[in-house]
Amino acid sequence: NVLILDFGSQYTQLIARRVRELNIYCEIHPFHKVPEDLSTFKAVILSGSPFSVRGEDAPQPDLSNIKGKLPLLGVCYGAQYLAHFFGGKVEASNVREYGRANLSVIKDKEALFASITENSQVWMSHSDTIKELPDNAVRLASTADVLNAAYRIDGEETYCIQFHPEVYHSTDGKQLLENFLVHIAGVEQSWTPGAFVDLTVNELKEKIGEDKVVLGLSGGVDSTVAAVLLHKAIGKNLYCIFVNNGLLRKNEFVDVLDQYKDMGLNVKGVDASARFLKALEGKSDPEEKRKEIGRVFIEVFDDEAHDIEDVKFLAQGTIYPDVIESISVNGPSATIKSHHNVGGLPDFMKLKIVEPLRMLFKDEVRRVGKEMGISPKLLGRHPFPGPGLAIRILGDITAEKVRILQEVDAIFINGLREWELYDKVWQAGAILLPVQSVGVMGDERTYEQVVALRAVESTDGMTADWCNLPYEFLQKTSNTIINRVKGVNRVVYDISSKPPATIEWE
Ligand code: XMP
Repeated sequence: NVLILDFGSQYTQLIARRVRELNIYCEIHPFHKVPEDLSTFKAVILSGSPFSVRGEDAPQPDLSNIKGKLPLLGVCYGAQYLAHFFGGKVEASNVREYGRANLSVIKDKEALFASITENSQVWMSHSDTIKELPDNAVRLASTADVLNAAYRIDGEETYCIQFHPEVYHSTDGKQLLENFLVHIAGVEQSWTPGAFVDLTVNELKEKIGEDKVVLGLSGGVDSTVAAVLLHKAIGKNLYCIFVNNGLLRKNEFVDVLDQYKDMGLNVKGVDASARFLKALEGKSDPEEKRKEIGRVFIEVFDDEAHDIEDVKFLAQGTIYPDVIESISVNGPSATIKSHHNVGGLPDFMKLKIVEPLRMLFKDEVRRVGKEMGISPKLLGRHPFPGPGLAIRILGDITAEKVRILQEVDAIFINGLREWELYDKVWQAGAILLPVQSVGVMGDERTYEQVVALRAVESTDGMTADWCNLPYEFLQKTSNTIINRVKGVNRVVYDISSKPPATIEWE
């Protein structure tokens, strides 16, 4: 069991994810809540942070029960913290130290760098630098710009690195974490999707007891995996509700309900399309649309939940990227979009929340789903946002626009399946632009809508790149859309990456 102390870095969850990739269980705790009982922890990692150790508001946890007592790895801020408060010196650096760097000197025969070659690429992201090492420190590695890129404290299992081993661009980062956790700290590698299922099912049983739980099923991977986990834990006390918000893909409502029939889940389909469309009437601001959908969604849920006697919990398939992009975990990460399924409930619902997947990334959710025997077809489904087509119809929403976009989207998605491209793409969809363009059809001038197609590659939705789809496919798809969907006379393909764009347009 590994403890990660979070100082508010964007990358803290990536550390956790890398640790889990090594089949090691870990827990993230905020820096100001160091667990009192450390007996179950075999190693501790200190994360990076947007703060400077020299600032007045710098996080300063009490590490007296940790440092020198448990194997400890300080990453970035963590490394600076251990330097600054234990006899070293941290200063603002003269050169910008962001992005790619190479470990130019690696001290030989150091366990932390076993199997890591000279010049290994690492990723830096810091504006302070460690000028002087703390007492009893031994320098382990440098880069061209950073003298003290890695050090350890003599006589302790305390290691510090200025770079980020958790990001993909640090080529040997995972090896370094393995060296620290497995070879230095001796942590067991017994954490698997199966272990996650067992542990989560037990936790859910304990938390929920004999109470009833209501869950919003969307047909997507996250809510399905959450439902199956809960079903394992509490069986018939799980009541699933699938709301048609009128903003789903073509035929999705019926198809999804069919899918769940065989899975033994107790699902009720509720068609609230009209209610959602009414609430969205005349609204064109993206955040306002999301909030409106969130509000109606909760109302519909509340109505349905009242029909279930004595229901105490609301379960959600929230996964980690939803959390980090919606709220600031420790203050500093900015709100990019308010994803409707995060952020708590109004009092009137009086339901407690269970989110068994809150700490997982999408690919981890898929592995957990596979472990529980959910069909590959269902697990392979592209992510689809909660507010659905509402955030892919730019501007205000009408039933007619929804219909047009559903047709376009269906042609695009079915095409991807026919061309065997669907599984190569992480997420795809169509966007209806609030733009009309001039065209010509059969000698007649047309003045109709423009749609954009978007297909991205990603592993977790946090970053993404556009897919290089074959020109022939794009050509065929564009033709089919313009010929078959009345009201559309132009198709464009979105070639923006995230960042700086996002996957959705709103
Ligand atoms: P962005 O557009 O932020 O999307 O790059 C990242 C991923 O999140 C999905 N997404 C949402 N999912 N509710 C959701 O459940 C939302 O409000 C929402 N907004 C975006 C998006 O489809 C992509 O997979």
